[in-house]
Amino acid sequence: MSDEYPAMQVPAEPMPPGYQPYVPPNPDEVGVEISDELAQVVRHARRIVVLSGAGMSAESGVPTFRDAQSGLWERFDPASLATQFAWDDDPEFVWAWYAWRVGLVRRVWPNAGHLAIAAWGRRRGVQVITQNVDDLHERAGSTEVAHLHGSLFAYRCAECGHPYDAEIEVPDEPVERLTPPRCEVCGAWVRPGVVWFGEYLPQEVMEAATTMIESLEPGDLVLSVGTSGVVYPAAGFPAMARAAGATTVEINPTETEISDHFHHVIRDTAARALPALVALVAAE
Ligand code: OAD
Repeated sequence: MSDEYPAMQVPAEPMPPGYQPYVPPNPDEVGVEISDELAQVVRHARRIVVLSGAGMSAESGVPTFRDAQSGLWERFDPASLATQFAWDDDPEFVWAWYAWRVGLVRRVWPNAGHLAIAAWGRRRGVQVITQNVDDLHERAGSTEVAHLHGSLFAYRCAECGHPYDAEIEVPDEPVERLTPPRCEVCGAWVRPGVVWFGEYLPQEVMEAATTMIESLEPGDLVLSVGTSGVVYPAAGFPAMARAAGATTVEINPTETEISDHFHHVIRDTAARALPALVALVAAE
């Protein structure tokens, strides 16, 4: 696999009618349990790092992978969609599935959780390390986002790695097969810009993320939002952050494989819990 990853393209779409800009809620009216101890850390945090997974975008309408009933891996077989083997075997089948997901993400919007992180970032600077391949953090206004698993929108040649910038055909519904475009340089198939199982993570992004975590210190805050904590290396970041001295917080409606690595847990959703935390800062 090529080490060179093209820059992510963010679709410049207008906000839909009725879409409200983010306004921090009144902390007294937010029904999310936050301990006094955690509130102190949030108010005084020096550096803030958000580690996000699929649950971050669930309330925008993007399905997670492993949630019962709604998770993508409940309905689709990862081995036939998200591996090099699957691509070699049937590129048109794989391309059709990713093209459908591109369309799905284009039709949805950042939720109150994405918007709260972006608002916090404007006040304090927030670094986001995400496993998500959508662009909802960026569309919400976050400027420092590291995509560990690549991007749905950064297509590249499967052979020479050359970025493919042209529009692609996007079906509204899942279709069985779709012919991928051809590379303008070498004529090979263009592939999705995401990381598949068994592939290396983008080296530069991985190094930047590891440095972000290893340089944390006591007084810094790490929020892990909406990840089941089963896919490494991302699942190892909370333990690394805690070892570095940062205060770690899990935001997830259910317990995860890595819940033990957190000083605090908020058993609530991203779109409820994050505005509640940011309201503490906004109320200062
Ligand atoms: P998962 O689908 O494994 O986990 C989603 C998590 O989000 C679960 O723990 C849910 O409880 C939680 N969740 C659901 N709704 C939520 C909400 N509204 N607010 C907060 N949390 C919510 O997704 P990831 O952990 O991101 O990789 O999956 C990691 C990787 O596995 C993905 O990046 C993808 C997948 O295979 C590749 O494709 C390489």
